[in-house]
Formats: sequence, C-alpha cells, structure tokens
Amino acid sequence: MTLRTHARFVTLEGGEGAGKSTVLAALRGAFEQAGIQALYTREPGGTPLAEQIRGLMLDTHHEPAVAETELLLAFAARAQHVRTTILPALESGAWVVSDRFTDASYAYQGAGRGLDAQFIADLERRVVGIRPALTLLLDVPVEVGLQRMRGRGAADRIEGERNDFFERVRQGYRDRAASAAESERFEVIDASQTVDAVAAQAVARLQAQIARVLR
Ligand SMILES: Nc1ncnc2c1ncn2[C@@H]1O[C@H](COP(=O)(O)OP(=O)(O)OP(=O)(O)O)[C@@H](O)[C@H]1O
Ligand SMILES: [Mg+2]
Repeated sequence: MTLRTHARFVTLEGGEGAGKSTVLAALRGAFEQAGIQALYTREPGGTPLAEQIRGLMLDTHHEPAVAETELLLAFAARAQHVRTTILPALESGAWVVSDRFTDASYAYQGAGRGLDAQFIADLERRVVGIRPALTLLLDVPVEVGLQRMRGRGAADRIEGERNDFFERVRQGYRDRAASAAESERFEVIDASQTVDAVAAQAVARLQAQIARVLR
C-alpha cells in the first residue's frame, strides 16, 4: 500500500498545551462561515474502539506500556479511525480535521521514545495509507505549553513525562516539518503568540488550501 495524500484532510500537531484544541475551534468557525461540511476528530481516538485504546495509552493506573506497545496501540487506534471514520468522510466529499495524526507517532514514539523512524514509516504505509495535504504544527517552548496545562487536573501518562522527553518531541516535530519529504504540507506556527494571532495564521493557511481545492 502506498501513501495517498488527501487534499481535504487537515491535521493539527504540537506538544502539550500548544493550542491545538483552540485552533481547531477557529478552523471550525472558518469552515462553518464558508458553508463547508467538515468532520472534526482527534487522536488517539476518534471512534469508540479507538477511544478505548486511547484510555489504555493514557491511563496511569496499570503497568507502564513499553515504547513498542505504545506505538502499536497508537497505530491500532489509527487503523480503526482511518477506515471507519476519516476515509468515509473524505469519500463523501467532506473535509476532515484531526487533532493529531501520524506525525504524532514520529514525534512521540520516534523522537520522544527513540523508536526507529523507518519502522514507523512502514506502519504508516501498511496500516494507515493516507496523509494530510495540510498539517498545522503549533510550535511552542515546552515550558510555555506545560504552563498552559497547569491547573487542568491530574496529568495523564504522557503529560507526566519529564521535560527532556517533551524537548525531544518538540524537536522531532520541527525536524519533520523541515524535512525535504514533508515540508511542503507543513505550516509551522509560532504558538507562543496570542490566541488571535495563532488562529489568524492557521485560518489563512486553511483558506489557501480551500482555494487550491476549489480551483
Ligand atoms: N496562543 C495562546 N496563548 C495563550 N493561551 C493559550 C493559547 N492557545 C491556547 N491557550 C490556552 O492554553 C490552554 C491549552 O490550550 P489547548 O487546550 O488548545 O491546547 P492543546 O494543544 O489542545 O492541549 P492538549 O495537548 O492537552 O490537547 C488552554 O487553557 C487555552 O485556552
Ligand atoms: Mg487539545
């Protein structure tokens, strides 16, 4: 199976507290204003079974998952999400916006946990098969993101990681966004700006993609 890029598939990426959910709401506003039908979803999760897998990944009460377990759980959830939810929506002509997708596995399980990027690329091709035409990477210093998250209740298993893990994740995202094979679909947004500035840049880039598709 080869990777197919879907023009109406948009993803949001970035570390903890970068502002993904905030930007998703702004994108939703832009789609609604334009009268364009879109599905809004998230990973890990997005289907009932995949949300259960998310629970396994983030739960702090059982034994810690080893890196390989975490990676395969993420891809198990993604396989389900793509086939039952994302592809049917794209095939119906809708746009799809996902809060995180495969880039998160390269950043978290690859750069963060040290798993081999080639292995992740094999899983992406064999298990996922699609990629977005536009990825908005919300880049923010780790400390700023974590500060935004504070006071939000108990940390899940990923949020409880150490700062050096989050630094590797951030660098993993930035390296991927800058790589020759991927850079074209990435828009890196300085997410330490105000909510309005971040949202404006995200919406402008989305509108450019909409114009490209409708042309
Ligand atoms: N540009 C911004 N400046 C200041 N605060 C922001 C900004 N964007 C988001 N926030 C605030 O930071 C917190 C985290 O934002 P948000 O939930 O959108 O991040 P997220 O990337 O979705 O986080 P998570 O990784 O937990 O899903 C929220 O309280 C939000 O209101
Ligand atoms: Mg969020």
